[in-house]
Amino acid sequence: MGNPSRKHQVLVIHGPNLNMLGLREPELYGRTRLEEIDAQLKDLGKRWGITAKCFQSNHEGAIVDQIQSESSRVDGVIINPAAFTHTSVAIRDALLLLTVPVIEVHLSNIHKRESFRHHSFMSDVVTGQVVGLGVNGYYLALRALADIIGATVQV
Ligand code: DQA
Repeated sequence: MGNPSRKHQVLVIHGPNLNMLGLREPELYGRTRLEEIDAQLKDLGKRWGITAKCFQSNHEGAIVDQIQSESSRVDGVIINPAAFTHTSVAIRDALLLLTVPVIEVHLSNIHKRESFRHHSFMSDVVTGQVVGLGVNGYYLALRALADIIGATVQV
């Protein structure tokens, strides 16, 4: 699968309030800052033949715009839509534009929390989900994408 001679592109999208990671409800979301997660993803990506482009926005339309503009360029997407997970038909519809694998990540276990967090508008249009494993969820998602898209994985 895939072309091992070319670097694969993965778009990582973080939704609203994730720019506050480390400061925001650390007992729930941990103390790692978003910049550290992005740096680690880029680093792991280098090892696994993937260029990770990371994008965060607090605005639904900006996330839709990003998915649309990158749709023809990327080989895979990791998305934590944050609160938009539970509200956004617009982001769901944008994800449906994609023909590449998409992994939905949640730091917390949304199924153990308030009932309004149990439903994801994305869950049935993504390839898979990683929930409740903290920042490791992002790294596991990248590892899974590397396998799915056939990047050159050096472990
Ligand atoms: C979250 C879970 C969402 O319910 C919440 O609104 C977030 C973060 C998570 O990563 O656990 O902002 O997506």
